Amino acid sequence: MAILVTGGAGYIGSHTCVELLNAGKEIVVLDNFSNSKPEALRRIEKITGKTFPFYQVDLLDQEGVERVFSENQIEAVIHFAGLKAVGESCQIPLKYYHNNLTGTFYLCEAMAKHGCKRIVFSSSATVYGMHNPVPFKEDMPLSATNPYGYTKLFIEQILTDLHTADPDWSVCLLRYFNPIGAHKSGLLGEDPNGIPNNLLPYIAQVATGRLPMLSVYGNDYDTPDGTGVRDYIHVVDLAIGHVKALDYMMDKTGVEAINLGTGHGYSVLDVVHAFEKACGKPIPYKIAPRRAGDIATSYADSSKAKELLGWTATQTIDDMCEDSWRFCSQNPNGL
Ligand code: WQD
Repeated sequence: MAILVTGGAGYIGSHTCVELLNAGKEIVVLDNFSNSKPEALRRIEKITGKTFPFYQVDLLDQEGVERVFSENQIEAVIHFAGLKAVGESCQIPLKYYHNNLTGTFYLCEAMAKHGCKRIVFSSSATVYGMHNPVPFKEDMPLSATNPYGYTKLFIEQILTDLHTADPDWSVCLLRYFNPIGAHKSGLLGEDPNGIPNNLLPYIAQVATGRLPMLSVYGNDYDTPDGTGVRDYIHVVDLAIGHVKALDYMMDKTGVEAINLGTGHGYSVLDVVHAFEKACGKPIPYKIAPRRAGDIATSYADSSKAKELLGWTATQTIDDMCEDSWRFCSQNPNGL
């Protein structure tokens, strides 16, 4: 019996494959390489010394998805595959809704047909919207501010409805805060296409000289230094959270939403300074206007993950920046 990892060549997916293999699990990986590269799979094998079946399949290819289930004994799915750029989702919303929702429908239909009713879904703290007080807790009201966020919210609802209709389903909705960092080996890390939207890859490209300077989006928020505060979490801590979630749900049915965050917030300037320490050079930045849709502060109440999964994040912001820098400096052209 194996765990199917959709989007297993991506940033969080690839780190999760490593931790699943390290935990002695069998995996099958599906990816269409729309925002990832085959090299990530070779690196997973290099780090773990293990091999696994891989399918270059798009979730919108219903026959391809069916083939994965008919050729393997899948006992659970970790579902990462999806489009994830917030700005792009506002430009081409139909593509985001079609890809993320229809892909999930086809996946769940194939799962149900083959009697596999355990799914861990890659959700996001974005579902807490603009109006909740921090720290964000799993039972707070949910909302979204862009099509990407709505796809996360809708898929959470769809999976919840699936369990209501058929209580044999076991659904875990993992709400990630801000994943950063890279594997300690320097072999795996975040490798975004084009100019990065997210803070860490942007800073890393300033450090390597690919981009001239960081724009800090707003220094007039109600935060200690005026810049936005986020709960940055090491991607390996996050990956381990998936293994724990899988173990937890294996002999249960139901739906659980669980935050994966550290419970601590760092400002944009805190991250800039931690990265400067890690790379040993200054990161030039300028203060720019606020970015539309950003909130001042986001961090997790991470007590549910501790209680249910026995999981807490262990790596510090310095670890995260050091590991990001190691990956970027060892892989200046990405994977
Ligand atoms: C972090 C902080 C920015 C870039 C987004 C999505 C979320 C999730 C992760 C992923 C904020 C500031 C950023 C820059 C800056 N989705 N910033 N200059 O916005 O918390 O979360 O990514 O797939 O759903 O909303 O993350 O890294 O973009 O921003 O000053 O060039 O850094 O304003 O305060 P965010 P981020």
